[in-house]
Amino acid sequence: MSAPREQFGSKIGFILAAAGSAVGIGNIVGFPVAAAKNGGAAFLLIYACFVAFICLPVMLAEMGLGRRTQHSPQKAYTELGEGLTRWKIAGFLATFTPFMIAVFYMVITVWIFGYLFQSVIGNLDLIASDGYFRTFVNEMSFLGYLVAVIAITYLILLGGVRNGIERASKVLMPALFIMLILLVIFVLTLDGSSAGIKFYLVPDFSRIDGSVINGALSQAFFSLSLGMGILITYGSYFRRNDDIVTSAKLVAITDTSVAFIAGLMTLPAIFAIFPNTNVDTLSTSSVSMVFSFFPNIFLALSETIGYVPASIAATLFFLLAFVAAITSLVSIIEVPTSSLMEKRNISRKKALMIIGTLITVLTLIAATSFGIVPWLTQFAHYAGVDKSVFDIISDVFYDTILPLNGLLICLFVRFRWKRAQLTAELSEGNPGYGNSWFGKYVNVAIGTFIPVILAAVFINTV
Ligand code: PHE
Repeated sequence: MSAPREQFGSKIGFILAAAGSAVGIGNIVGFPVAAAKNGGAAFLLIYACFVAFICLPVMLAEMGLGRRTQHSPQKAYTELGEGLTRWKIAGFLATFTPFMIAVFYMVITVWIFGYLFQSVIGNLDLIASDGYFRTFVNEMSFLGYLVAVIAITYLILLGGVRNGIERASKVLMPALFIMLILLVIFVLTLDGSSAGIKFYLVPDFSRIDGSVINGALSQAFFSLSLGMGILITYGSYFRRNDDIVTSAKLVAITDTSVAFIAGLMTLPAIFAIFPNTNVDTLSTSSVSMVFSFFPNIFLALSETIGYVPASIAATLFFLLAFVAAITSLVSIIEVPTSSLMEKRNISRKKALMIIGTLITVLTLIAATSFGIVPWLTQFAHYAGVDKSVFDIISDVFYDTILPLNGLLICLFVRFRWKRAQLTAELSEGNPGYGNSWFGKYVNVAIGTFIPVILAAVFINTV
């Protein structure tokens, strides 16, 4: 007889945990830079529409499936899919995807931790020095940072759903918000910051084209943690009579607001310090922005405000990024952990040991593919692509598999589970949902044009 399924203790706990998953590095630099490059407010508008009309229905489907079945993705798809192979594959993908993304995200989180550590000990000039990132990724100190990040993640997850994930989110999410607001206020007091606001908020519709639209949708999908099995898993910890619909809306609003507010920090900072920046030349890669660009911003800032205050600002920035990353990392590692607990009927501790070891090994492989271990760096060259193992994981899973997983859940709702069942599930805790305009909208959209759009994104990236 297995133990009863764990549950979140409160609705707010669930919302903060899901928002903790959604708010990540993508919100803090990825989104603002994408917005500035792609038409400012025009991009924001398109992004917000995608969140409300495409992503939110998918999010409801994931949470609904989780709560309906009270299982992790694999078992949820298998059970409601009546054992049909195609739905088993969908369940497998929803479990395997987060596992691989966890590896990629772990590497980035470890780097952030390393930069945080270096800023705390006063090495701002070091991390901002030319070419430092290249050296940093190949240093043995990576192992020390890795151990620290794994230990923190492990401790949170070991506490379980209520005493681990929920409790950590209740502290970390408000802290994140306060740090963000402090940084925004600080940045806006710098001379010349208004130029950044202009790029961010003045709409330029001439920049919107097919690839911007595609990019906005991918960004929204990733940002809301969709297609990774996370919300199916978290949904399975949601209580029967809690209101999924309102919670999902609040998660989407929080995630989008944090991304929006982060833009009020990121862009003014860039333009206050480097007034001649050409937005088109900014990298869309969060990795290069966080690790190469931002340390330089803080170092340049030290010339006006002094080295120590600039180091404090840098520390706050990396702490913010670290908190955003760790809450996302926790959510994504919970997916394979919870699946394993369920499948093998083992304790959380045992499951965490197994998943933790696997992820650590894969993280080492991905992290050493930058030069420490030459054959790993070379691996992709033999296959004819000029990419590291790290890049390959990111390309395959981030760009391609996420929309595919979104497509699969839409097809599952339409052809197997049935939309009326989804509506019934979502109406528990929100009796008016089925007759509301939004409920009617979701009912139509999830079985018609949303899957078509996701299929188009998938085919486009393949
Ligand atoms: N939503 C996260 C972000 O915006 C992405 C993510 C979530 C990645 C969970 C991994 C795990 O960065």
